[in-house]
Amino acid sequence: MIPNKQVQEILDAVRIEDVVEEFVSLRRRGVNLIGLCPFHNEKTPSFNVNPTRNIFKCFGCGKGGDAVTFLREHENLGYAEALHWLARKYNIEIEEIERSPEQLAEQQLAESLYIVNDFGLQHFQEQLFNTDEGKSVALAYFKQRGLREETIRTFGLGYAPEQRDLLLRRAKATGHNTDLLKKVGLCSQDGGRDFFRGRVMFAIHNLSGKIAAFAGRTMSSDKTIPKYINSPETEIYVKNKTLYGAFQAKKAIRQRDECLLVEGYMDVISLHQAGIENVVASSGTSLTEGQLQLIKRNTGNLKIVYDGDPAGVKAALRGLDLALEQDMNVKICLLPDGHDPDSYVQEFGGEGFTAFTEANSRDFILFKTQLLLNDAQGDPMKRAALVKDIIGSIAKIPDPIKRSVYLKECSALLDVEEQTLHSETNKLITGTIRKQQEKAARRPEAASDSPEMAPDPNFPVAEPEFTARAQEKPMLRGDEFQERDIVRMLVQFGDRMLKEEQVSVAEYILADIEESLGNFDNPVYGKIASECHTLLVEGKVVDQHFFMQHDTQAIRDLAIDLLSAPWELSPNWEERWNYPLQNQKMPELNFDIDMKQALDRFKLRKIQKMCELNLLRIKTSAESGDDDAMMRFMKIQQKLNETRNEIAKRAGTVVLVK
Ligand code: CTP
Ligand code: MN
Repeated sequence: MIPNKQVQEILDAVRIEDVVEEFVSLRRRGVNLIGLCPFHNEKTPSFNVNPTRNIFKCFGCGKGGDAVTFLREHENLGYAEALHWLARKYNIEIEEIERSPEQLAEQQLAESLYIVNDFGLQHFQEQLFNTDEGKSVALAYFKQRGLREETIRTFGLGYAPEQRDLLLRRAKATGHNTDLLKKVGLCSQDGGRDFFRGRVMFAIHNLSGKIAAFAGRTMSSDKTIPKYINSPETEIYVKNKTLYGAFQAKKAIRQRDECLLVEGYMDVISLHQAGIENVVASSGTSLTEGQLQLIKRNTGNLKIVYDGDPAGVKAALRGLDLALEQDMNVKICLLPDGHDPDSYVQEFGGEGFTAFTEANSRDFILFKTQLLLNDAQGDPMKRAALVKDIIGSIAKIPDPIKRSVYLKECSALLDVEEQTLHSETNKLITGTIRKQQEKAARRPEAASDSPEMAPDPNFPVAEPEFTARAQEKPMLRGDEFQERDIVRMLVQFGDRMLKEEQVSVAEYILADIEESLGNFDNPVYGKIASECHTLLVEGKVVDQHFFMQHDTQAIRDLAIDLLSAPWELSPNWEERWNYPLQNQKMPELNFDIDMKQALDRFKLRKIQKMCELNLLRIKTSAESGDDDAMMRFMKIQQKLNETRNEIAKRAGTVVLVK
């Protein structure tokens, strides 16, 4: 653990442009720097680095954040790893807080497992390249399957000869511990013989390129022995969080903004060798959530390329709903009968493969619909189940526009009225929301982490009470404009000092709106304000880092959105706020005025609400003949009106009296 004080020291030292420039060449444009985005493929630069704000933002793909975020996304580093990287760059020596004995033991175990696996890889490679048996059996086999030596090395391929305990004996001779060999599965559990024998070997890398496990393919054509055997799960090999080839593919996946998913080891290797490097394999099982998240970190576009046989199709269908839930675009391409990706690319080359998959990829939902439809021909029961099934998939898609498009197309395919599909889908979504809300009520702190869903407002169902999603161009209602502006000030200038008042912007704002903290229309904005309040009460600072590395995705997204706002001020800004924007050009220099205006607009909204509420009270007390109460409320009304007019005057806003 890095002590907080040092985290701050590192963050203070960081210049975003220094960090990004290690990976992307940038040139100056005005106060910003621009370059080609490393997160998606582009020819004209839309990747912006803002040294003043210490952030980056790509206006092509929308990625953005601070230097820590950049390193996490670009280099696939964890949070602590990113901080270490920065500390090294800026020559800051980290005095780690002592790890607990358990943590230390865990880390040491992981390291020793990697060491044993490294030994395994060296052994298998040596057997492959430097022994007669390896060369004549295994190397010849790889060559016959079209692999070049460079590819064989990139993927850590090797050979485990037939001998009973060659690896074991060599390991012992070089001082390796038998218990560790057993644990990673390189030898049998009784410690008497090698686990992999007479097999060509495939190293399975983790995301940073270390060897997590092995797979071995038999050289025998005997159908009674398993074609592939694998290392067991260990602390360093968790199957459902591993994708074969991910280490070799991650850069290409980001650049092409697409990930191909195939079934087998050889599929990945052959495609990679043919120049199609954005490919990973699920290794014959259906996709897990952990694996999808690995992909999602690099791209939102998934293309499943499987054999055209019924087993391949079935395997493909299983991953679908999970991918939809993650808001991924999923396509499927089935290869001609008898081909897997490896055999296809070996026969037709990389260009032939790409041409085929581009011409034959289908949207997954439509594919599934068509497939089930063929299955259900003339059977009304099956058809009804099919409609349910499809709607179930569509309801998982978080984006309402996407859902709409699918419902339209499926309506045509299924020959069911679009309106019917819409309301059925909305019913499902409402059910999901209710479940999420119940769950959130039980576990409040995790509530905003689950993706929020909203039915299509054009097709309302009974209870139209939904929270707006915090997205790039949010639909703001009620006081949300004003609340967003308060949050904007907190994000952009929270830790700046106000000269006159000698407090920070965050302190000033939160002291001023303390009593409205529970009255936010937008739950995300309200959560931010309350959390900042808590931070200040605890004597901590509210700075960019708090938002950029927040646990809640919606808050991180919002922060980067707000921080990049000056690059894309909305043209109807003034109209929207009913307020002249005096500091459009350099908000950095004018933040105190900006902040006070934002506060006025916010308070004006909240006080207007109080006025309305109080008017209602006057009305009810008048109707019920309670003169005392009425007089009391009228006095309050007078006070409220005065305050309101005072703020309005300062803010230069015309108050519309209702
Ligand atoms: N698989 C496995 N264990 C098996 C069979 C298959 O783990 N007994 C996994 C492997 O990841 C394999 C994938 O499922 O790569 C696909 O299996 P298959 O199509 O049978 O193998 P191929 O990859 O096509 O292997 P090859 O081309 O060498 O026959
Ligand atoms: Mn194959």
